[in-house]
Amino acid sequence: MCNKWVRRTSLFLCLSVFVFVLFLSLRKRLDAAYAGTKESCITDKCHSRMGKEKFVHGPAAVGDCSACHKQEGKHKFAPIANVGDLCYKCHDRLDTKKAVHKPVKEGKCTKCHDAHQSPYRFQLRAEGVNLCFMCHDKKLASGKFVHGPVAVGGCTMCHNPHQTDYPRMLNAAGNEVCFTCHVDKAEAFKGKKFVHKPVQDKCVNCHSPHSGDFQYNLPAEATQDLCFRCHKDKKEWISKVKVKHGGLTTERKCLACHDPHVSDYAKQLIKAPMDTCMTCHDKQLDTPDGKIMNMKSYLENNKDHHGPIKQKDCSACHNTHGSDNFRILRKYFPPVFYAPFDPKNYDLCFNCHEKTLVLEPRTTTLTGFRNGDQNLHFLHVNKAVKGRTCRACHDAHATNNPKHIRDSVPFGAWPLPVGFHKTAQGGSCLPGCHQKFEYNRTNPVKNR
Ligand code: HEC
Ligand code: HEC
Ligand code: HEC
Ligand code: HEC
Ligand code: HEC
Ligand code: HEC
Ligand code: HEC
Ligand code: HEC
Ligand code: HEC
Ligand code: HEC
Ligand code: HEC
Ligand code: HEC
Ligand code: HEC
Repeated sequence: MCNKWVRRTSLFLCLSVFVFVLFLSLRKRLDAAYAGTKESCITDKCHSRMGKEKFVHGPAAVGDCSACHKQEGKHKFAPIANVGDLCYKCHDRLDTKKAVHKPVKEGKCTKCHDAHQSPYRFQLRAEGVNLCFMCHDKKLASGKFVHGPVAVGGCTMCHNPHQTDYPRMLNAAGNEVCFTCHVDKAEAFKGKKFVHKPVQDKCVNCHSPHSGDFQYNLPAEATQDLCFRCHKDKKEWISKVKVKHGGLTTERKCLACHDPHVSDYAKQLIKAPMDTCMTCHDKQLDTPDGKIMNMKSYLENNKDHHGPIKQKDCSACHNTHGSDNFRILRKYFPPVFYAPFDPKNYDLCFNCHEKTLVLEPRTTTLTGFRNGDQNLHFLHVNKAVKGRTCRACHDAHATNNPKHIRDSVPFGAWPLPVGFHKTAQGGSCLPGCHQKFEYNRTNPVKNR
């Protein structure tokens, strides 16, 4: 009886000890498992790929899963509530500058980085542009012309993926982004007197930093349509004027005269204003309406240049972008030899000279073209019919005679000679119109 009790008790005790030992050893194993050591989490069956990719994250590489995963049960891990905060436990904050990339601001680091490993450097989820195109529209780089750095896959050559102090997370301020690579342009633009407003403002006003459908990543053809996007008034003017300038429609269009970036001359001209004109008007031009003279050699051969030409200002009289007037003149000027008098006919000349020149029949002050006090300008010009136009006697550009009196004037097909001869107190002419007439301001001449 006693033996039976002793046997039962010792059996119970033995069993208890056995269970206790079993419990202890199991506990040890579970603890080891729960501790998250490499041996325990990474086995042939479990998480076997972990650590096999080319780039493995520091803590994952040493198998320290628990650095990030907090265990809640046998094989239960707390979801990671805020990935950003987790990463910042070990890494510097990446949301302290003025421009922070939205996914970074929201702490979504793992949208771009795999927390454990990846075939790509920095455990990125994709390589080069593909990473960015996971969220951004591929269209950005799908223009016909793709900018060098985009083409070779480097969005991060200009943008920081996390943050910078410049808008759009650019690596530098404004145009400096461009000049970091286009050093030659920075050099070429330096010290120029005139910078086209949109260039000063930002290069990307015209050039897409990514891609464009036209050469140089432009949004429109460089030589004209690009300009018209902003210079709408010019587009309208050029299309509506009656007399078009052939200079606008050469191969280079606007760029024949203007530099799109910088210039040493006002109005973005490629050369000094008159030299710009002479890039084309240094030869005779054939047009459907006849020949246009070689203005360069004309000015070289006729030494006495009219005031505005001395100032090298062709635009004083001509509107290069076209006009409603004959010869793209800014103001009306009769293209003919005779015109009924109307002061409006001479708007061009009277823009700079006094109208009174032709308004008073008698004067001793208004003009030197008088015989005594008889105003010969009035006499010739101020007629109801067959008034002589200024061009009958003067050349607007230059002549070798005093007062820009021409040698001859086209009269129909005939170059009608003017035959001007100047004297101290007056002059004479023997034109194709009449016999020799003289005038003298102090001692009026009686012409027959
Ligand atoms: C640096 C922190 C960190 C370390 C170290 C880490 N993880 Fe993770 N793990 C994460 C984060 C963050 C997520 C959530 C992923 C997400 O949000 O896309 C995650 C998710 C997981 C998941 C869910 C599936 C998945 O891949 O998204 C598994 C499984 C996992 N981790 C296993 C492990 C194992 C095993 C280890 C140890 C070898 C480990 N992790 C080490 C941060 C870590
Ligand atoms: C427990 C600390 C710890 C946490 C948490 C942590 N990291 Fe790391 N991380 C490291 C260490 C250590 C390295 C290795 C550093 C080295 O190689 O210079 C590293 C390296 C990296 C690298 C590669 C850097 C390089 O220069 O190659 C990236 C990218 C990275 N971590 C992103 C993350 C992200 C994203 C998170 C959050 C999901 C995160 N880390 C969370 C410790 C941590
Ligand atoms: C939009 C994608 C993206 C997001 C979101 C992102 N990263 Fe990055 N990260 C990158 C890229 C791309 C690189 C490589 C940069 C390079 O090429 O210089 C990088 C590099 C890193 C590096 C290593 C190089 C360095 O700059 O020190 C660390 C560390 C890092 N990221 C941490 C983080 C952390 C932490 C977060 C979240 C707060 C985060 N990243 C969010 C794209 C991202
Ligand atoms: C996980 C998605 C995601 C990835 C990947 C991503 N971005 Fe973004 N990015 C965004 C979001 C969201 C915005 C905010 C868009 C908005 O506000 O309209 C943004 C905005 C931007 C902006 C504009 C910032 C501003 O101030 O308007 C730039 C530039 C940018 N990302 C560049 C990149 C580059 C470069 C990459 C690749 C390294 C990249 N992104 C990868 C999600 C992403
Ligand atoms: C040569 C430098 C450069 C490169 C390379 C570059 N960007 Fe940009 N990116 C810029 C500039 C400059 C802006 C600002 C444009 C503006 O102000 O209009 C910008 C703007 C953006 C924006 C804001 C929205 C927009 O379209 O203006 C996004 C998004 C963007 N870039 C994404 C990318 C991605 C994705 C890549 C790679 C495929 C990339 N960038 C490559 C310079 C660059
Ligand atoms: C990371 C260097 C880099 C940056 C920054 C950069 N570029 Fe470029 N750019 C290049 C390269 C490389 C080419 C290709 C050159 C070639 O094909 O001859 C190029 C070509 C160009 C071209 C076409 C030139 C040609 O002859 O076809 C233009 C226009 C241009 N870039 C404008 C810009 C503007 C505007 C910016 C600033 C938003 C900028 N670039 C910023 C590297 C850069
Ligand atoms: C008003 C529009 C406009 C702006 C703004 C502009 N460009 Fe241009 N860019 C052009 C045009 C038009 C061309 C084509 C010129 C040609 O065909 O001769 C061009 C050509 C270029 C070229 C390639 C041809 C060459 O001359 O080498 C580069 C590089 C360039 N630009 C850089 C820049 C940089 C850098 C900026 C900012 C500092 C800038 N551009 C601003 C209109 C612009
Ligand atoms: C993105 C808009 C934009 C584009 C494209 C543009 N311009 Fe301009 N341009 C301007 C602005 C703004 C001004 C300054 C106007 C002002 O000051 O009133 C200007 C001024 C000018 C001036 C006068 C400069 C001065 O000193 O008064 C000329 C000439 C000119 N542009 C020619 C061109 C030509 C040629 C093109 C095409 C290659 C072009 N622009 C394309 C915006 C543009
Ligand atoms: C044959 C030479 C020539 C061509 C081609 C030319 N321009 Fe001009 N442009 C000039 C001259 C000269 C001036 C200065 C006129 C002045 O001083 O009044 C000027 C001035 C300008 C101005 C500033 C002053 C103003 O009139 O508002 C703009 C803007 C302009 N041009 C735009 C254009 C555009 C756009 C094109 C192409 C459609 C173009 N130009 C083609 C010669 C030219
Ligand atoms: C890029 C070449 C080019 C430049 C530069 C140029 N022109 Fe012309 N110009 C022409 C051509 C071509 C014609 C012939 C027009 C035609 O075919 O009707 C012409 C015609 C003219 C005419 C006669 C217009 C007519 O049809 O009656 C005048 C006046 C004129 N140009 C003045 C100027 C002035 C002033 C300048 C400088 C501001 C200038 N041009 C610069 C090419 C140019
Ligand atoms: C004082 C005003 C004035 C100035 C300044 C002026 N022109 Fe003229 N231009 C005229 C007038 C007026 C005509 C028409 C002449 C005629 O047919 O009688 C004309 C005609 C022309 C013609 C057409 C010639 C032909 O063969 O019929 C050209 C080309 C021309 N000008 C170019 C220029 C150039 C280039 C400059 C600058 C060097 C210039 N003009 C300066 C007033 C001017
Ligand atoms: C843009 C202004 C301007 C316009 C337009 C202009 N002129 Fe002149 N003209 C001048 C200037 C300036 C002088 C030089 C005055 C001086 O040297 O005292 C001058 C001088 C003259 C002279 C010589 C005067 C002298 O005493 O030597 C004659 C003749 C003349 N202009 C005729 C004309 C005719 C004809 C027209 C119309 C086709 C015309 N001008 C249009 C500005 C202009
Ligand atoms: C019949 C020929 C003739 C016609 C037509 C003519 N002029 Fe003259 N003009 C002259 C002569 C000759 C002189 C020189 C007078 C002198 O100094 O001896 C002159 C001188 C001038 C002068 C210098 C100042 C002065 O009056 O002495 C100007 C300015 C001038 N003319 C402008 C014009 C304008 C404008 C027109 C058209 C409205 C015009 N001329 C029409 C012959 C003419």
